[in-house]
Order: sequence, then C-alpha cells, then structure tokens
Amino acid sequence: MMKIAPSVLTANFTNLEQEIKSIQTADYIHLDIMDGHFVPNISFGPAISKQIEAVTHLPIDVHLMVTDPLKWIPQFVFPQTKFITIHIEANHVQESVLAIQKERVGVGIAIKPKTPVRAIIPYLNDVSLILVMTVEPGFGGQSFMTEMMDKVRELVRLRKENGLNFVIEIDGGVNDETAKIAKEAGVDIVVAGSYLFNMEDRAKGIEVLK
Ligand code: DX5
Ligand code: ZN
Repeated sequence: MMKIAPSVLTANFTNLEQEIKSIQTADYIHLDIMDGHFVPNISFGPAISKQIEAVTHLPIDVHLMVTDPLKWIPQFVFPQTKFITIHIEANHVQESVLAIQKERVGVGIAIKPKTPVRAIIPYLNDVSLILVMTVEPGFGGQSFMTEMMDKVRELVRLRKENGLNFVIEIDGGVNDETAKIAKEAGVDIVVAGSYLFNMEDRAKGIEVLK
C-alpha cells in the first residue's frame, strides 16, 4: 500500500476547513509553500499552514519551494510536522538540512525534473524523505512525467545498496493511472492535488490511489 499525501494547493480556500476534513483518511497533508521566486507562483505561508494543522490530526508534510529555505524552516515546525522538504536547487542546502535535523523533524530533499539523482548523493545519509518531482514545480494540474520513474528505481537501488531507509515520495500529476506506475517503480508516498480536490468523493479517491 502506498501512503497518500493530498496537496491542499488545489483545494477550495474559501472553504478550507471542509476541504481538509474531506481528506482525513489520507496519511499526510502536503503543504506546497511557494515564494514566487524559486517557482513562478505564490501559494500560502506559515499562518495559513498553522490554521490547517489546527483542523487536522494528520502529520504535516511541508514542501518548501523557496529560494532561501533556511529562514523559513522554524516557521513550519508545528507539533504535527513530520517532514520539511527543501529543494536541492535552493540556497544553503547543507545549513538547511542541519536546521531541520535540529528541529527533530524528518529531512526531505526534492529534485526538479531536470535535476539528476546524483545531485543529492552527498545527502543520502541525512534524509528521511526524497521527493522526486513528476512535474515542473509551481502549479497543480500538470501532466505526470513518467520518465521520472527511472529516478525512483535508481533511488530504490541506492537505498538498498547503502542500507538506508529514506522514503521515496513523488509529486505532480498523480491520478489513478499514474499511481499504478508509481507503485510499480517503488514509490512509498504519492502527493495528489487536483485528482483528489476535483472529485466529489475524496475518501474514495484516496482508496483508489493506495
Ligand atoms: C507543484 C506541487 C504539487 C502539485 C500537485 O509544484 O508541488 O504538489 O500541487 O498537484 P497535482 O496533483 O494537481 O499535480
Ligand atoms: Zn508539492
């Protein structure tokens, strides 16, 4: 069974509490934090993230799509924060990894589609999660990049060879079809935004993805 992390980026923010309640059968809530600089979009910040955490019991999976994550990390450490993921393409990666470790939160490192797996080799021993982007970060509703499964297979191999236990998460374009491809490749957690929030019965959608 894969674990499911709905991304609230594509939720109806005028009815956010209801939207959060509708995905309580998921395993995590994925918060897409965008600074309008690292990606050409702005989403939401610490204040709204705190409000989301207050209306769910689910662990929080923070995805920082920001150029300078170091200054933001403390602001996303909530009691339920399970992972804070930074991008390998961002600034101060080493210091950010240490800062997340100091908060006693799982360290996640994300790679954009054009970034090879080898870019994160130096951090393999530090991470609890590796996020392979299956779309160019910035927007929900894009198409799944199947070729990214090669990276997943490479990470499965690296994890085994080095006796590591990070989880592999993918993010972008996940639906009932692409979730099957992800499972076969060895993905542990799928992030799904538009697939879930565009449907009526979210609990059913979550079961289908598992
Ligand atoms: C894109 C975000 C993804 C996105 C997923 O930058 O990181 O989490 O919201 O949305 P869907 O599932 O709609 O592609
Ligand atoms: Zn995301």
